[in-house]
Amino acid sequence: MGTNRCKDDRNYYITTPIFYVNAAPHLGHLYSAVIADCLYTYKRLQGFNAKFSTGTDEHGLKIQQAADAAGKDPLSFCTSVSERFELLFRSCNIAYTDYIRTTEQRHQHAVEHFWMVLKNKGLIYKGSYEGWYSMQDESFLTSSQVGNALDSTGKEVKVSLESGHKVEWVKEENYMFRLADFRSQLLDWLRGNPQALQPERFYKQVIHFLQEDLPDLSVSRQRSRLQWGIPVPDDPEQTIYVWLDALVNYLTVAGYPDKHDQWWNAVHHVVGKDILKFHAVYWPSFLLGAGLPLPQTIHVHSHWTVGGKKMSKSLGNVVDPLEQSNRFTIDGIRYFLLRQGVPDSDCDYNNDKVVKLLNAELADSLGGLLNRCTASSLNPAQVYPYFCRELFPSEQIGGFRGRAVAEDYHLLEAVKGLPSVAKQHYESMNVYKALEAIGGCVRQTNGFVQRHKPWKLDRGDSEDQRWLDTIIHVSFECLRMYGTILQPVVPEISDKLLSRLGVLPGERSWAALLFLPSYQGQHCPFVGRPLGPDTGVLFSRLESPNADKGKTKKTKNVIKLT
Ligand code: MSP
Repeated sequence: MGTNRCKDDRNYYITTPIFYVNAAPHLGHLYSAVIADCLYTYKRLQGFNAKFSTGTDEHGLKIQQAADAAGKDPLSFCTSVSERFELLFRSCNIAYTDYIRTTEQRHQHAVEHFWMVLKNKGLIYKGSYEGWYSMQDESFLTSSQVGNALDSTGKEVKVSLESGHKVEWVKEENYMFRLADFRSQLLDWLRGNPQALQPERFYKQVIHFLQEDLPDLSVSRQRSRLQWGIPVPDDPEQTIYVWLDALVNYLTVAGYPDKHDQWWNAVHHVVGKDILKFHAVYWPSFLLGAGLPLPQTIHVHSHWTVGGKKMSKSLGNVVDPLEQSNRFTIDGIRYFLLRQGVPDSDCDYNNDKVVKLLNAELADSLGGLLNRCTASSLNPAQVYPYFCRELFPSEQIGGFRGRAVAEDYHLLEAVKGLPSVAKQHYESMNVYKALEAIGGCVRQTNGFVQRHKPWKLDRGDSEDQRWLDTIIHVSFECLRMYGTILQPVVPEISDKLLSRLGVLPGERSWAALLFLPSYQGQHCPFVGRPLGPDTGVLFSRLESPNADKGKTKKTKNVIKLT
């Protein structure tokens, strides 16, 4: 009994939004997926039994029109774009366990069931909707959410104030969901669970939104207008609203309507700020209506802009993530997105910034550190060397303080505290803060090596040799910590680093983050172990004609080993 209960508490189900197939994947899409992937891997390192779903959102007017424009039947059009998303995610090491397409039979079954549950509870009624609709956002809007703008021909049009997309006036008979009934329950849920919606800025936005009028929601369109979607059960004249259809994907993957509790009690969503209302207002209302548990967390992220502008085909500033990952490597692009991406504000993408950041942090700082410490000139035996407590004592031994200085103790303190700092930041999706902290420790470790100049020690002298080993041992232990903690962000680099240190796959979990046991007189399993093979530099410096123009090649952190 106890074991089962304990096992349930260790389930974790993370989702990305499902992606529209009306256009090719861009960098912003990859960002949503990389965040979810990072959380997934982090939880697995923590020993959780985890599930990670992503996929494509294939119904709706927008897709119907895109297929028409491409001269394809909707399903083969959807299949071809869905495969592009799959290819992108696989190429970028997005380790999803489930890929869902809303055109699948299992999903149609889940949506029909979900609809009938709401219908049978009296939460869906036939009514007539009259109001604004944005096809691009597949969203209904109130008058206060609509404003005037000029289109490309200079004509005045109505647009959504939030997205800027054109809206049209819609008047038709369809099914309505009693959204208004859920306002106070939603407020109670959020007020009682402030951590359910992060970061705080978006939490406040939703609370504010819920304090305004919340009209019932149209949840179907007339079949004559929209054929590409799931028909309303018992009423073939109506098609289910694409957002209701799409949101249920999270349940489909969990096994709904049959056996879904195991995962549904542990679901966490990653969503971009543009789809906040759908996930933090509509979705919880549907779930409350259907008598299902609410998500544990909705992690909201902001957007990537280019030249300060939203990426868009018409502006020609769309960044192709596959192209970027070919240029900067997969881990390079993942690192950049998570290092620069700040959940509560938009970030601007530019190639020079990528080159500078990756060269400084991955190639020079982290790569340089590994390179120095594993060099055969310092470590001819190519083993994980011994740590000498006498030379680096944890407490004063007979008045002799060894050779370590105050900064070295600061380094140890910082690295020892790193797992809990990283844990806090990974869990709140502030990955950039975890990376900042790791970066700070890597700099301190380089400082440690630099300070003690192991290459100047005399290997013929036994104390010098022991001190040299100790310096390398401490540096390896630091690197082992960085490699382990970085796995959710840069899986290939971490693997390369840990393999070089001889750390086995079973020794890379969060529980293995016991730093420098030798310092406390405990057994260190790595001592004396042969290093893994040298498979080349950890991260090759990137060339950027613009960024490096007129400068000599940076050699600051490249230490000459004599
Ligand atoms: N199909 C809906 C989601 C349904 S989920 C039940 C959708 N699809 S989308 O393809 O338009 O967007 C998917 C994700 O990509 C969203 O999280 C969105 O915020 C994210 N991004 C789209 N453009 C983005 C940027 N420029 N920057 C960062 N992420 C952005 O919405």
